[in-house]
Amino acid sequence: MSYVVTLSGSPAAHSRSTHLLRVAEDALRAHGVAVRRIDARELPAASLMHADFDDPAVREALKLVDQAQAVIIATPLYKASYSGLLKSFLDLLPQRALAHKPVLPFATGGSLAHLLALDYALKPVLASLGARHVLDNVFATERDMLVVDGAYAVTDAIAQRLADAIESLVHVLDDAAALRSLRDGRRMSNERRTRETDLFRALR
Ligand SMILES: Cc1cc2nc3c(=O)[nH]c(=O)nc-3n(C[C@H](O)[C@H](O)[C@H](O)COP(=O)(O)O)c2cc1C
Repeated sequence: MSYVVTLSGSPAAHSRSTHLLRVAEDALRAHGVAVRRIDARELPAASLMHADFDDPAVREALKLVDQAQAVIIATPLYKASYSGLLKSFLDLLPQRALAHKPVLPFATGGSLAHLLALDYALKPVLASLGARHVLDNVFATERDMLVVDGAYAVTDAIAQRLADAIESLVHVLDDAAALRSLRDGRRMSNERRTRETDLFRALR
C-alpha cells in the first residue's frame, strides 16, 4: 500500500509542530493519499538512546519510513536547531533511507530568529540520508499558532502555506506514479515484443 509517513520530532504531548502534521495529514487524506504517523516521543527512550535495532517499535518505525513514498518531518526548534529527539531517530535510519523520497520539513519556533535552522541544520542531515528532493519548508512561530478550546489551530496564512505545501507534494507523488506506470508500460510492451519475436522464430 502506498502512503506518506509523517514524523513528529517533538517531545511534547501537546505540540505545535505536531499540530502542523495533523493539518497536513488531513489535507493528504482529502487528496486521497494514505498517511502513517511516527511519533518519536512514543518510541522507547532507552531503545532510541542505545540504538536498539531489535526493539520491535523501532523496527516497525524504520520499516514505515523504508516503505513510504514520501516523508514529512515536523520539529520544534531547540537551541537554534531541530530537536535532539528527532536526531536520535534520524540517527537510526540506514544511510540511504531517504533516497528517492520527497521530503517536506515543518518546524515551529518561538520567533523567526532561527528560521534558517532548517537550512543549516536539518537539510545537510536529510542530504546525508540520500534525500535529493526537499520541498520548501513550512515554518510557524508561536504567534502563528492559536489556541482554540484548548487545542492548537493555525492562522489562515499558515493554513494556506500548509495547503500549498501538500499540493506540491501530491504533484510530486503524481508525477512519480505517472513515470512508474510509463516505465511499467514500456517494460510490458518490450516483454510482449520479445515474446512475439520468440513465437515468430519458433514458427519459422
Ligand atoms: C528547550 C527549548 C529550547 C528552545 N529553543 C528555541 C530556539 O532556539 N529558537 C526558537 O525559535 N524557539 C525555541 N524554543 C521554542 C520552541 O521552538 C517553540 O515553543 C515550539 O513551537 C515548540 O514546538 P512543540 O510544541 O512542537 O514542541 C525552544 C523551546 C524549548 C522548550
